[in-house]
Amino acid sequence: PATPTASDLKALVRAVPDFPATGILFRDVTTLMSDGAGLAGAIDALAALAADLSVDAVAGIEARGFIFGAALAQRLGTGFIPLRKAGKLPVPAMAEDYALEYGEARLELDPTIIRAGQSVLLLDDLLATGGTALAAARLLRRAGAHCTHALFVIDLPDLGGMTALSEQGIEGRAVMA
Ligand code: PRP
Ligand code: ADE
Repeated sequence: PATPTASDLKALVRAVPDFPATGILFRDVTTLMSDGAGLAGAIDALAALAADLSVDAVAGIEARGFIFGAALAQRLGTGFIPLRKAGKLPVPAMAEDYALEYGEARLELDPTIIRAGQSVLLLDDLLATGGTALAAARLLRRAGAHCTHALFVIDLPDLGGMTALSEQGIEGRAVMA
């Protein structure tokens, strides 16, 4: 079968009005990842976006960043670093609080899994305001990693995440906008 285009992949994303709050159009990637060609096409596209980068590890943001991130890490031949929501890690963790398009949350990282100076590629399913990705980058940097690039399956450009990332020295790239 032909390689899916970005527009084929976009057609597999379900848009759900008024979730999790009135006025939010939620982009649901469940319908993309549950499709075999969709999942493979998304991972192929992410790998292409990473092709010119030197990557020592991929860090994915819970929950949907784990699915795409682990697949990308395996493709790139690197390890995978989970950035977890609050209260999940069994060891002492660094934490960063943040605001996102529809609320507030906390991400946590076990800093002992980061090697000083390693280049960590950040990965999430979706970029909206950038609040989540910036909290993730702060955690990785506090733990001693270099974090200069972030990949997303979906960018919502109207919410300004790419600009917010670039102001903190992070180049964001997305499969689709
Ligand atoms: C979604 C998405 C990103 C974040 C982007 O996750 O997966 O992580 O929002 O929003 P932002 O750019 O405005 O920060 P959500 O917090 O809904 O978490 P979930 O994976 O637990 O559903
Ligand atoms: N995270 C932040 N905004 C989002 C949206 N509109 N759809 C899915 N995930 C999101």
